[in-house]
Amino acid sequence: MRRNDRIAVEVRGLVKHYGETKALDGVDLEVREGTVLGVLGPNGAGKTTLVRCLSTLVRPDAGTAVVAGCDVLREPRRLRRAIGLTGQYASVDEKLSGRENLYMIGRLLDLSRRDARRRADELLERFSLAEAAHRPALQYSGGMRRRLDLAASMIGRPAVLYLDEPTTGLDPRTRNEVWDEVRHLVAEGATVLLTTQYMEEAEQLADELTVVDRGRVIAGGAVDELKARVGGRTLVVRPAEPAHLEAVAAAVAQAGLDAAPGVRVLREEGELHVPVLSDLQLTAVVGLLGDRGFPLAHISTELPSLDEVFLAVTGLRPEAAGAAAGPVPEEVAA
Ligand SMILES: Nc1ncnc2c1ncn2[C@@H]1O[C@H](COP(=O)(O)OP(=O)(O)OP(=O)(O)O)[C@@H](O)[C@H]1O
Ligand SMILES: [Mg+2]
Repeated sequence: MRRNDRIAVEVRGLVKHYGETKALDGVDLEVREGTVLGVLGPNGAGKTTLVRCLSTLVRPDAGTAVVAGCDVLREPRRLRRAIGLTGQYASVDEKLSGRENLYMIGRLLDLSRRDARRRADELLERFSLAEAAHRPALQYSGGMRRRLDLAASMIGRPAVLYLDEPTTGLDPRTRNEVWDEVRHLVAEGATVLLTTQYMEEAEQLADELTVVDRGRVIAGGAVDELKARVGGRTLVVRPAEPAHLEAVAAAVAQAGLDAAPGVRVLREEGELHVPVLSDLQLTAVVGLLGDRGFPLAHISTELPSLDEVFLAVTGLRPEAAGAAAGPVPEEVAA
């Protein structure tokens, strides 16, 4: 069996209600060992509740979950040693320095003084915090706190890491640094469950996706599979002669394909975007272009973006979902 065929996180029928609110309403998911599962969903979808249940911080009303071979309900202590958690809100002690924070967590995890110091220094180095190691976390920027938080979740070398919106409120450069660290961890064999509202983040990191909304899984699968399932593809055509653009567009439109009303002419790029819903349509459009003999500089098919996938499966615009919570100030987000 390949390593990737083993399941590191298996969740079945997980339910958690808060009064009338069905935070989790029967969630099933799996994460293969050594991969990243992206859990996407709008505000209030149940992402943080899921992470809390899987880290023993919240007791589910029903369902089962096995993480790194530990039953979440029956073996909470063993489980806590196998996981790392970077919460949506930072959990560092602001009065302590970065190094003290990491040292303290190491000690809590039963590392010897020497090992706790060594591990703290190693992680401070890796997260580019060595220079700020002795300053109180209170003085850290949002991005530095986020990195400290991520470092803290890794002290115990967890087999499974939960990252709950790890880059909310970070600038693009810091976000990229966090992504690099996550990739590094996965390359070392960790399994990651990542919740996010950023399509780009899911696209960058996730092998598979689960889309949740109102406590339920509404779509899931490999990133490309999901994209292919949601929308048709787009055929991108760039005539060798920019002057031919309109003529090519007219030819496609005249062909009377179902796809034709959606043809878009991108003058600046010199491209034509033709939505195609089936292989048959694709063959028809390509055949037609060949028959007319327009010389082409480029032809390719593209899958819909994750934004479009999200929109299609939740009926929400991701921007709107994010905006519902209002802008998150960096101090709060980090
Ligand atoms: N401790 C709690 N008491 C009552 N209701 C709660 C509690 N925690 C979560 N909820 C509710 O459960 C639902 C799911 O919340 P959750 O925090 O899991 O969503 P989320 O997907 O993480 O959202 P966001 O993207 O805003 O972080 C929401 O309606 C929320 O108000
Ligand atoms: Mg949340």
